[in-house]
Amino acid sequence: MPSVIDSLTLIRPDDWHLHLRDGAVLQAVVGDTARQFGRAIIMPNLKPPVVNAELAGAYRGRIMAALAVAGVEPGAFTPLMTLYLTDNTSAAEITRAVESGFVHGVKLYPAGATTNSDAGVTDLFGRCGPALEAMQKHGLPLLVHGEVTDPAIDLFDREAVFIDKVMIPLRRAFPALKVVFEHLTTKNGVDYVTDAEGPVGATITAHHLLYNRNAIFQGGIRPHWYCLPVLKRETHRLALVEAATSGNTRFFLGTDSAPHPRGLKEQACGCAGCYTALHAMELYATAFDSVGRLDALEGFASRHGPAFYGLPLNQGTITLERSAYDIPQELPLGDSTVVPLAAGESLPWRLKA
Ligand code: DOR
Ligand code: ZN
Repeated sequence: MPSVIDSLTLIRPDDWHLHLRDGAVLQAVVGDTARQFGRAIIMPNLKPPVVNAELAGAYRGRIMAALAVAGVEPGAFTPLMTLYLTDNTSAAEITRAVESGFVHGVKLYPAGATTNSDAGVTDLFGRCGPALEAMQKHGLPLLVHGEVTDPAIDLFDREAVFIDKVMIPLRRAFPALKVVFEHLTTKNGVDYVTDAEGPVGATITAHHLLYNRNAIFQGGIRPHWYCLPVLKRETHRLALVEAATSGNTRFFLGTDSAPHPRGLKEQACGCAGCYTALHAMELYATAFDSVGRLDALEGFASRHGPAFYGLPLNQGTITLERSAYDIPQELPLGDSTVVPLAAGESLPWRLKA
């Protein structure tokens, strides 16, 4: 009989999809990520968005300053910056980003797909062509929010339709372009990424591994389980768990931790986004443990992402212990608070200090 694992030491993991925000919110959340992860891909959907290397450099400076204030040792955590692709992103801007050395990807938000995506792309194959060509040439990954925005398409089908309408034509037009299908939520997405030819990867969040769409409606409407792409039905969750724990190097960790002030979630039209930076590795360990695949966590969390991005593995390790972790009801967030995912519940794993 296999013995129960009570402690798990991993190469220090990375978060390949993270929202840190700015100002007081950045200051409040950055320590949570730095405690667990060595690096994170920082999403550029600020207001206004991070559309060029100069803005990315300034944002990086604010993150470094916030890390210092949070007491994170210099060098312990590295933010990997991204640009926000717009219809006006030029090939020259891509070259500048590559030359900066600190920009590691370009994010595609179809205009209107999610939080702060109004400046996103409306003409991917036309106006973005030169930028995509330059990214392909330089090996700079395109990070894709994979949902169509057509209001006539059912919300739960928008990822599947995106594969046919955008992903397949995109990969055909730019076959050597590195593409990350961000926050995968469906079996359709898993099958696409598994079978696609060329340099394709995907991030998977902890919440999409742990919950299906029932979580949003359990006992009433629960805004803290609402994110985009929205949680899907159980068959899709099972496919995501299977992919994440399979050892397939195309799948890697991306929390999509997206802090919003409590009041903006708990209102008539609540924002999308789950705050998981606080307890990310505890959540992932719980998901992997649920199918007896803790052995696959290091690949998913610490090895596959660096391999895709062409970066070295982190130095150092983290250790998780089988010990109850009680998730707080809320945390300070500037002049408000943020409610972490599964607030008030208990997880069977905890990160060792
Ligand atoms: O739930 C989400 N929140 N999905 C996104 O794509 C954006 C994010 C945010 O920035 O709040
Ligand atoms: Zn995101």
